Amino acid sequence: DEVKEEKLLLHNKKVLITAGPTRELVDPVRYFTNFSSGKMGYAIAKAAKKMGAEVTLITGPTSLEVPSGVTVKRVVSTQEMHDAVMEEFHNQDIVIKCAAVADYKPAVRYESKMKKNKQDWHIEMEKTVDILESLGQKKEHQVLVGFAAETNNLEEYARRKLEKKNLDLVAANDVSKEGSGFGSETNELVLFGKDGTKKVLPLVSKDKAAEMLLTEVSELLD
Ligand code: CTP
Ligand code: CA
Repeated sequence: DEVKEEKLLLHNKKVLITAGPTRELVDPVRYFTNFSSGKMGYAIAKAAKKMGAEVTLITGPTSLEVPSGVTVKRVVSTQEMHDAVMEEFHNQDIVIKCAAVADYKPAVRYESKMKKNKQDWHIEMEKTVDILESLGQKKEHQVLVGFAAETNNLEEYARRKLEKKNLDLVAANDVSKEGSGFGSETNELVLFGKDGTKKVLPLVSKDKAAEMLLTEVSELLD
């Protein structure tokens, strides 16, 4: 048994994964979000556990079941996800930011439900904190992996994120493509490394994509 354990690629490694969307409330009954299902992040958590890691999953609202043996922290807003991630960051070996974080939030959040009236409602939006960029600035020994959801210019935008956020690897996917968009059961990832490498993974199930991604990531550990 011990021999088998040592062969596992992520044996005893601490892996932090974020998944799902974040939600930004404008009043107690309305919010802004995106189409993230959480499937890719949960698949990575499950695969990391299977590969021997000690896994923490920080997740926005999803309808998915948490893989067994995985420690979970549930959050709603981007700020909550930021705070939860920062609390765990220092003692992780690998951090994979798969969550589809809301980029903007209502500048004002009303305590009571807004009533409709004859006028239109103009909502002022302000930027949320970029969690991954903050991690990139704080990075010590951790392998930092980001995702890039694009509809065009995949390579250019993905590489820009890799650099700007000080990542070791970025997993890009074309969310406008059949089979790799939000809510899909499959994914087609392109991995860009900070050393300039590019690896195109095939269109496979999200479970398989997770395994392939983690195998690449394990090679970045020292
Ligand atoms: N991300 C984050 N915090 C944010 C926004 C994004 O941590 N406020 C992370 C995501 O989890 C993902 C990566 O940054 O790992 C890229 O997210 P993406 O939405 O593709 O890129 P953005 O930098 O937000 O730029 P844009 O949406 O304009 O493409
Ligand atoms: Ca974004």
